[in-house]
Amino acid sequence: MTAIFAHRGASKYAPENTMPAFELAHKMNADGIETDVQLSKDHVPILIHDETGKRTTDFPGLIKDLTYRQIKELDAGTWFSKQFAGTSIVSLEEFLQWIENKPMRINIELKNNKIDYPHMEAIVFEMVKHFRLLERTTFSSFNERSVKKLVRLSHDMDVAFITSKKIKQLAHYTEQLGANAVHIKYRLLQAKLVDELRQKKLAVRVYTVNKQSLMKKCFQLGSDGIFTDVPDIAVHYHKQFFKS
Ligand code: G3P
Ligand code: CA
Repeated sequence: MTAIFAHRGASKYAPENTMPAFELAHKMNADGIETDVQLSKDHVPILIHDETGKRTTDFPGLIKDLTYRQIKELDAGTWFSKQFAGTSIVSLEEFLQWIENKPMRINIELKNNKIDYPHMEAIVFEMVKHFRLLERTTFSSFNERSVKKLVRLSHDMDVAFITSKKIKQLAHYTEQLGANAVHIKYRLLQAKLVDELRQKKLAVRVYTVNKQSLMKKCFQLGSDGIFTDVPDIAVHYHKQFFKS
């Protein structure tokens, strides 16, 4: 069955990677939440997609140049709608505290494809371990070096390589990295690729799946998960699809 992950929370309806978006995803019965992690200047893992705050906060500069205290003062809601004015950026710790008593899967994407944060993998891993949430967490990254580092930290955990590019022999490539899953951009999804990944016992999840026609394709091809900004629609359609 295909797991429905709320992409940056229920990000169509509330500012991405914030508590209102996560709360909504939970209310909408998403199976899991996908979120993006970066580090503050003082090495605190915080949840934000872009390297700068330009698009989603009132600070246009690089987030990595701010301390955690400074980051907590930013407004990460007004850009989306006045209704969310004053919504703050969430730390990974706050997110894990919130989700630990909810039966949801977690996908932490290490956003380190543009900025190479030293020791990011170990910092994030240790925090998830501290909360005893390793079993329901998938760690993922576009950065191959980071994927390899995550695999080295623990061979038991779910590590995914993310790609938006067509890579020759993706199944073999992923296997070489040591990952056990691939997160692919929707336009790479093909039956042949899913078969190749299956043969290597690799899970395949697809992003970002917002249209029902694409959800259908993912369900039909047996993808293990989808990332969607509209978990309400995906959960509803998933029920209908697997009933018939
Ligand atoms: O992890 C899947 C997806 O979230 C990767 O793309 O840009 O939305 O973080 P992006
Ligand atoms: Ca992401």
